[in-house]
Amino acid sequence: MNAKPTEATLADRHVLYQESVQDVEAEIDFVQETFQALRGRDAELLREDFCGTANTACEWIRRGRAHRAIGVDLDADVLQWGIDNNLARLSAEQRGRIELLQQDVLTVKTDAPDMILAMNFSYYLFLGRDELRSYFRNARLSLKDDGILFLDAFGGYEAPMELEEPRECEGFDYIWDQASFNPINNQMTCHIHFEFEDGSRMDKAFSYHWRLWSLPEIREVLYEAGFRQVDIYWEGTDEETEEGNGIYEPSEVGDADPGWICYIVAEK
Ligand SMILES: C[S@@+](CC[C@H](N)C(=O)[O-])C[C@H]1O[C@@H](n2cnc3c(N)ncnc32)[C@H](O)[C@@H]1O
Repeated sequence: MNAKPTEATLADRHVLYQESVQDVEAEIDFVQETFQALRGRDAELLREDFCGTANTACEWIRRGRAHRAIGVDLDADVLQWGIDNNLARLSAEQRGRIELLQQDVLTVKTDAPDMILAMNFSYYLFLGRDELRSYFRNARLSLKDDGILFLDAFGGYEAPMELEEPRECEGFDYIWDQASFNPINNQMTCHIHFEFEDGSRMDKAFSYHWRLWSLPEIREVLYEAGFRQVDIYWEGTDEETEEGNGIYEPSEVGDADPGWICYIVAEK
């Protein structure tokens, strides 16, 4: 007799990732409003670097009929999953406004976007300053003359610690595992695991080997790559709960929190 399949064997890791890691609505709210505030016009062409399943690019397409998007990722399988699942949910007209490229963000050449997004810390996988600068240079060259590169970053005094951080999601637990950290080169290996109500587990659904870059380093390298203005958008605090309020504003002073996430806005 066949054993009953576990929840872990039935689950799709990309669905779990999109449900637990990404908040594409909030991300697009932020970049759309910030671009409008800085440039006094609406952005039209968005390029999502390291796009994975192109979930963010699809959200951009849904936000307006004038919107176009290009997604860039090296991994053909992940792009195909995005086509079969995320692009498949767009109308034919919407699908006509999005293009996915299986290319390297270090060398890709595209139509000039108003905005380039590199989110979920994907650029941390560049381990050296030269490689990071090459990526920022290529992004800057690609952008329109008044274009903007949007990045996110994470840090805080728990960021270089070896620890596991579980979080409850709808129907499963998401576990962020900072498995190893080397203080000599700041390189770390992290995994995402998922655990289910039947006790089954999807171990190492995603793994990353990257460098924990600091904000001053990232800012310096962005200026070296030729960006004119680089600002850190720090999250405000809700006075009642003393938790983050989801509102990010330009700031020169942050809080020494155990863990923080912020946006970096680099203007060409
Ligand atoms: C951390 S995932 C990010 C997924 C998505 N952008 C998000 O915000 O959740 C990193 C993605 O970057 C892709 N990638 C890694 N190196 C790349 C490169 N040099 N050029 C293009 N894509 C790359 C991987 O294939 C993977 O899909």
